[in-house]
Amino acid sequence: MTEKKQLILNLFEMACISHISHGLWPLPGNNRHRFDELEYWTELALILEDGGFDAVFLADVIGAYDVFRDGPETALREGLQSPNLDPLLIVPAMAAVTKRLGFGVTFSTTYEPPFAFARRASTLDHLTKGRFGWNIVTSYLPNAARNFGLDGEIPHDRRYELADEYLDVLYKLWEGSWDDDAVVYDRERRIATDPSKVRYIDHVGETHRVAGPHIVHPSRQRTPVLFQATGSPAGTEFAGRHAELVFTGGRTTEEFRANKRNMQEAAVRNGRAAEDVKFIASAVVVVGRTEEEAADKWRLFQEHASIDGYLAHASLPVDLTTAPRDISVAEAIERSGKQLDRAPMLPLHLTVGQLLDSLVGGRRERFHVVGTPKVVADEIERWLDVDGIDGINLRQFHSFGTAQDFAELVVPELRRRGRLQTDASATSLRDRLFGRGDRLPDTHIAARYRGGANFDVPVPPLRFPVGGQGAAA
Ligand SMILES: Cc1cc2nc3c(=O)[nH]c(=O)nc-3n(C[C@H](O)[C@H](O)[C@H](O)COP(=O)(O)O)c2cc1C
Repeated sequence: MTEKKQLILNLFEMACISHISHGLWPLPGNNRHRFDELEYWTELALILEDGGFDAVFLADVIGAYDVFRDGPETALREGLQSPNLDPLLIVPAMAAVTKRLGFGVTFSTTYEPPFAFARRASTLDHLTKGRFGWNIVTSYLPNAARNFGLDGEIPHDRRYELADEYLDVLYKLWEGSWDDDAVVYDRERRIATDPSKVRYIDHVGETHRVAGPHIVHPSRQRTPVLFQATGSPAGTEFAGRHAELVFTGGRTTEEFRANKRNMQEAAVRNGRAAEDVKFIASAVVVVGRTEEEAADKWRLFQEHASIDGYLAHASLPVDLTTAPRDISVAEAIERSGKQLDRAPMLPLHLTVGQLLDSLVGGRRERFHVVGTPKVVADEIERWLDVDGIDGINLRQFHSFGTAQDFAELVVPELRRRGRLQTDASATSLRDRLFGRGDRLPDTHIAARYRGGANFDVPVPPLRFPVGGQGAAA
């Protein structure tokens, strides 16, 4: 008999008032406004660890959402990802009160030098005893570019090319600069570190020059677990080379499966096994003790949803709230004469009215269920077995209500069905997710630098499919 696939359970979080469920922070009992208190994060960490979650996933942006209505005012009024704290700094507080909970934290490859990030990531992997994961993003906000000295965004595919060199530097530092037995703490001979086991990396690339050695000794995982969210051809190629956990979407089972297949093919092209990449979907799960209770909760969330929040989040260059409801979104944009940067995210074929209604109604993504614990568990089993996901990022509508409801009502049902990991022996995040140790597998590109090998052998450039978005710009 084949073993039942077990769900990877992550909570989707961000250190701000309104992350992705806009308009809901003022609901009674919602703790979102406490995001700047250490206690918010320690309380949440305990709920998640006691409640059977594998990890908390922390999103991040480094600029304001100021495209909609030509300024940041709407985002500020809505609490839309601003103010927003640095998520890396939150991890030690949550780690201090937990033993197993993992952390997937977003950091951008585009604006800060790799040596500085290598140090912070290694520090966090040490302090968490190997529970640190990194969500690799290249950042999409034009304002982020202006915060870091650029006039505007670097083109999409070019950002992935730059990120590829960025990761190359990190791998040299994390995997190759120090041997496992470099730190000896030999009191008698008074040697802390054996200098013959530590080396410069002397990276000289197109964008970065980094001498090394790494300033932090090897942590339990060395390279943090690598997360990435993508769907584009360039992003898929990049994920095939680097990512271990991929967030990818799809409106239907077929679409999701096709995205997954593309990504697995990209992994195999890069010398990895298809099973080296796991797939996580953002999921809406609203659960109640009865169908009615669940429906009431969902209705409450719909009634309070903020259209302004969603439109500002989409960085829409056009104010659709003032456009005629019966024309298409594409036509409304065309009439405004504005350029659309993030077209793939928008359903251009819908009428303005349909789009606005769907925002309030909560767009029904494929991974969306409202119901009793039994209905929810049935649906999650379908996502695992039919769609082929490996896990979910649980989207929050109420903090801590969403996580508490899931822990109280859904986790016991999934446990009964053998769908959650109960083995507590794995303590590093990578071992928990893949069950084969703390380190990256030998087939991963980072492994080429182990023992200080290959520092001067360039990695082949990523080959993006023709028709990408601005690789050579
Ligand atoms: C679940 C999920 C979480 C994401 N979190 C972040 C984030 O925290 N910060 C960020 O800049 N982008 C985030 N993104 C956006 C991705 O980094 C990326 O820009 C997006 O998936 C499009 O990638 P693509 O252009 O390669 O298809 C997230 C996307 C998804 C689906």
